[in-house]
Amino acid sequence: MKNNLLEISELSVAFSDEENVLSRVSFSLQEGETLALVGESGSGKSITALSILQLLSYIGATHTGGKVKYRGKEMTPETASHIRGKEIALIFQDPFSTFNPLQTIEKHFSHLFRYRTRVSKKNWQKKMISFLEMVHLPDPEMLLQKYPHECSGGMLQRIMIAMALVCRPKILIADEITTALDTTVQKKIIGVLQGLQKKKGFSMIVITHDLSLAANIADRIVVMDGGKVVEIAPVKDIFMRPLHSCTKKLISSLPKSAFQAQIVLE
Ligand SMILES: Nc1ncnc2c1ncn2[C@@H]1O[C@H](COP(=O)(O)OP(=O)(O)OP(=O)(O)O)[C@@H](O)[C@H]1O
Ligand SMILES: [Mg+2]
Repeated sequence: MKNNLLEISELSVAFSDEENVLSRVSFSLQEGETLALVGESGSGKSITALSILQLLSYIGATHTGGKVKYRGKEMTPETASHIRGKEIALIFQDPFSTFNPLQTIEKHFSHLFRYRTRVSKKNWQKKMISFLEMVHLPDPEMLLQKYPHECSGGMLQRIMIAMALVCRPKILIADEITTALDTTVQKKIIGVLQGLQKKKGFSMIVITHDLSLAANIADRIVVMDGGKVVEIAPVKDIFMRPLHSCTKKLISSLPKSAFQAQIVLE
């Protein structure tokens, strides 16, 4: 049995004095594991990611119960500030909220190397290129001189992955990162992530409303509905023996070909 890297227990979250938007959410993430967090829009996936990293205050929400443990230690806003972006990296759907439109890609990387690593300045250029090559981006030297608006959505997603990996995180949380992209680009990015995970051995939490994507990438699937976890199971069991009505609904909304492909895979 591998170690739990992350343990989320009974986590509840609310906006001001309203009802909880997350209710007693519990799941764990093991070393090297990929977990997919799936559920319909509004089921609480992004809030779960933000609460893991103690970022709720940015959206005006608070923890109303439960805890998050990283490597056996309870996370607090204080400890999370050291873990965020270093041990646990979070990447979002919208690349434009991550990038500063007035800065080149090189400038973004330089900032990371300066403040988040001990790489000496004379090696930055070489390192930047190697990180861009890692995510299979062609012509990295030229890319470094570009501004975000000169890159496609798929390119920016890959750059975001490369930037998230600069600090060698133990956990990568990806919130709907391929949702806005067409299926071919989506597949490429998922392939890049899988390859990197194999090489680097980090764990992943992939947030998606797309169950077929979850099935392709994850070891286990956590199904959320109305701010609660309603089912957790290995991919195969989710498809062969879905227990909760919400899981069944997500499966039935898949195109038939995706479901059949999954059955054949297993
Ligand atoms: N700023 C906010 N103020 C009040 N309620 C919010 C706020 N942000 C989110 N919520 C509520 O919290 C719940 C969970 O939202 P969350 O963003 O986690 O959903 P999600 O599963 O990530 O959905 P999506 O797939 O659309 O990204 C929703 O019911 C939403 O209405
Ligand atoms: Mg979301």
